[in-house]
Amino acid sequence: MKHFLDINKTSVDDLRSMIDSAKAIKNARNGRPKGAQDDDLPLKDHMVALIFEKPSTRTRVSFDVGVRQMGGQTMVLSGSEMQLGHGETVADTAKVLSRYVDLIMIRTFEEATLLEMAENATVPVINGLTNRTHPCQIMADILTFEEKVGPIAGKKVVWSGDGNNVFASFAHAAGQFGFDLTFTGPQTLDPEQVFIDEARAKGVKVEIERDPVKAVQGADLVVTDTWVSMHDAPSARERRHNQLRPFQVNEELMSHANDDALFMHCLPAHRNEEATNAVMDGPNSVIFDEAENRLHAQKAIMKWCLQN
Ligand code: CP
Repeated sequence: MKHFLDINKTSVDDLRSMIDSAKAIKNARNGRPKGAQDDDLPLKDHMVALIFEKPSTRTRVSFDVGVRQMGGQTMVLSGSEMQLGHGETVADTAKVLSRYVDLIMIRTFEEATLLEMAENATVPVINGLTNRTHPCQIMADILTFEEKVGPIAGKKVVWSGDGNNVFASFAHAAGQFGFDLTFTGPQTLDPEQVFIDEARAKGVKVEIERDPVKAVQGADLVVTDTWVSMHDAPSARERRHNQLRPFQVNEELMSHANDDALFMHCLPAHRNEEATNAVMDGPNSVIFDEAENRLHAQKAIMKWCLQN
């Protein structure tokens, strides 16, 4: 079973083939209408369940559109409206859904839910975000970087802000794609050490630098994310804002990175909080290319999952 659960659980060769496939899938559309199907229809006669236990715009729409462009059909399911949200086990849900659908994408809170779904499903399962990781986003980000700059191997990526689930998937990707990664943020919001240790064990440089100006020096890519994630308590908002304000990505901070450094944000953003409008809408920003590339990257991921 080819689940796509995390970037560190997928082989380097398979990750590379997915990025190359995403580039080919994107190029092959040749500007055709968004509702038109691709020439290649690997999801023809396939049904895909898209389960959301958290809000989503990009993941929901890009998976739905992607399945349809590849000839398949979708059902978008809200976790709270399923029996899953009312006491049915994840394992039973996985076994039942596997009798109806060919592929399951789930966005959930606990990583354990994703893993239990994958262990019990007899169809591939894709991680559409958990509290711990967000691999589909980072596959889109790698695609975006390579389209704009070229191979990401050997480049320097700097993350400024909260060491959250999106950072974690960047750390997984650093180890697999071979780029250096610097985290700059307050110590209280450091990423889990295991993500850093694992990437370092694969031979890439992963650093923690408390001074954001020093951190971005030599950066080829600067990334940030919202200061309060979906799973964070709203009561933590003020404390987090106070801690993270020095790590805001603004024009002054970007001026210390390489002149052609890209700026990324997975969106949704809280504009003028984690990043200023000037940066988000500036010449180095590729935030909407990232959003578009969710579509193409996920089509490649789904195609890979369904290949024997
Ligand atoms: N970046 C991202 O996952 O966006 P959504 O929460 O809108 O899906």
